[in-house]
Amino acid sequence: MCGIVGYAGRRPSAAAAGELKSHAHGALDVVMEGLRRLEYRGYDSAGVAVLTEAGIDSRKKSGKLANLTAELAAAPLPEATTGIGHTRWATHGGPTDENAHPHLADGGRLALIHNGIIENFAELKAELLAAGAEFISETDTEVAAALLASVYRGEGGGDLALSMQLACRRLEGAFTLLAIHADSPDVVVAARRNSPLVVGLGDGENFLGSDVSGFIDFTRRAVELGQDQIVTITPESVEITDFYGNPASGTEFEVNWDAAAAEKGGYPSFMEKEINDQPQAVGDTLLGRSDLEGRLTLDELRVDPEDLKAVNKIMVLACGTSAYAGQVAKYAIEHWCRIPVEVELSHEFRYRDPIVDGNTLIVAISQSGETMDTLMAVRYAKEQGAKVLAICNTNGSTIPRESDAVLYTHAGPEIAVASTKAFLAQITAAYLLGLYLAQLRGDKFQGEIKDMLTDLAKVPAKIQQVLDNSGQIKELAGLMADAKSVLFLGRHVGFPVAMEGALKLKELAYIHAEGFAAGELKHGPIALIEEGQPVFVVVPSPRGRDSLHAKVVSNIQEIRARGAKTIVIAEEGDDAVKAYAEHVFYVPETPTLLAPLLTTVPLQIFACALATAKGYDVDQPRNLAKSVTVE
Ligand code: AGP
Repeated sequence: MCGIVGYAGRRPSAAAAGELKSHAHGALDVVMEGLRRLEYRGYDSAGVAVLTEAGIDSRKKSGKLANLTAELAAAPLPEATTGIGHTRWATHGGPTDENAHPHLADGGRLALIHNGIIENFAELKAELLAAGAEFISETDTEVAAALLASVYRGEGGGDLALSMQLACRRLEGAFTLLAIHADSPDVVVAARRNSPLVVGLGDGENFLGSDVSGFIDFTRRAVELGQDQIVTITPESVEITDFYGNPASGTEFEVNWDAAAAEKGGYPSFMEKEINDQPQAVGDTLLGRSDLEGRLTLDELRVDPEDLKAVNKIMVLACGTSAYAGQVAKYAIEHWCRIPVEVELSHEFRYRDPIVDGNTLIVAISQSGETMDTLMAVRYAKEQGAKVLAICNTNGSTIPRESDAVLYTHAGPEIAVASTKAFLAQITAAYLLGLYLAQLRGDKFQGEIKDMLTDLAKVPAKIQQVLDNSGQIKELAGLMADAKSVLFLGRHVGFPVAMEGALKLKELAYIHAEGFAAGELKHGPIALIEEGQPVFVVVPSPRGRDSLHAKVVSNIQEIRARGAKTIVIAEEGDDAVKAYAEHVFYVPETPTLLAPLLTTVPLQIFACALATAKGYDVDQPRNLAKSVTVE
């Protein structure tokens, strides 16, 4: 997600300092250095603002930091010792100069940067427009800046910290905010809720960062902030309160990571960081897309509800992991909406003369939004008159741009080539689409939809439970580093999970792995079973269709009878599987259709741990590219 840096200090600029006392001088150097360290977080625009006696001056550009650096060379900022900087991963509004941060307000006397999603920005924007505010961007951030300015000129009485407290009480969603105001030289005020922010403590200078990478070059003394906190930094002070001005404190710690590790949040690899990002990826994808009554509010889809009501067939177009997300979506959408869902590999779709018409809804699933196979399939489908809706993780990429509508996942940038958090976010977005269709078409009672959304809202914490209990599966992976072949079995929504588990192991550990529908075993694959053959089995909940559970248990017996080493992923409380498994890894109870959000995680962890045990680069596996932009 976005990178954020703030600085209040006394470092003179290079010019003022004369000889180079250190490699960074002045607020601009410190902020740009921090943004460079945060580049790994992925972004598509960047900007900085500095505070001088003369007021606030800022520069911002779409694209990479090089574009901002060129802009600063062409139009230098004044010397300053207070500043903020931001690298933006676009969510609301594309990656344009106007949408880049900082956003200004109060006649250019206030600058604000933001990481997160403000759920109630639409109603706040309407209120501010009615009060005469003007906006130049599509972002929720500019709304927050205008709100802060309005409070500053009102009940905030020109006190930036008090105004931030008052404004934050109006905001819903996830946010890290940093603000500077021309009336308060040497001051940066920040706030956080459900979004990262850490303080860096220096001598005669203090720092803010979305993580320690933002200031690791200048100090290793940091303070972790709690939920709903405001922090005010000056060169000499750091003051922390809650949103009501009550004094609060953070947790001071010494940063013992090296800069490279800091970029991965302290994890050894982006792959491990992203596996552990999954609770937030699912949570952020759900954020702001339903109301308290359990009604889905996918206004951003911008598709005429009447067109969606007329849909009589859905075709999912995707490749690789994204296609497996489409397979999971098939089970859910067909169950909720009774609309036939076909899942097509993009590269096969347009060569088989598919039957597509104006009542076909194409759902193109793509993390990168640049997969050429999927893009060409989307173009073909549009030529046949179909409506196209993209489920995509990269704002402003080609596939959403060429689609009629888009439902963005909010997994944040996925750096590791093998997809993990984007997969869970894609499944989550597909569930939201299915429930939205059911709501529009009346296939489900509102109460049923609300119940499912309530179950979905519990999933991030359940994923965290699986992550917290991953020691055993990591240990097993280390013992299986010499495996030559691993099979994966699943039924119903467990079948695409088995396929994805096999793909992860292929991609990361270069081991032959194959996923099968468990029911297919007797139709051929069981011939592969021999003494010691490792087989993962994703077992459905015994609370679901009990015949499904019983059938999978009998599949396990069949392969064990032939020497398989069975490794079972099952629901907590399912004791029936213990008798037939060498290893059982439990995941929390959840409705059958939502189970892939949990049962996938142990398989990701296993593949990553086994590849690590083999000494492989889990972020950049051999032969693979993050985005396959050729057919
Ligand atoms: C996933 O681990 C793989 N890297 C690959 O299968 C990927 O899912 C596929 O290439 C589709 O990419 P996309 O989601 O960016 O379109």
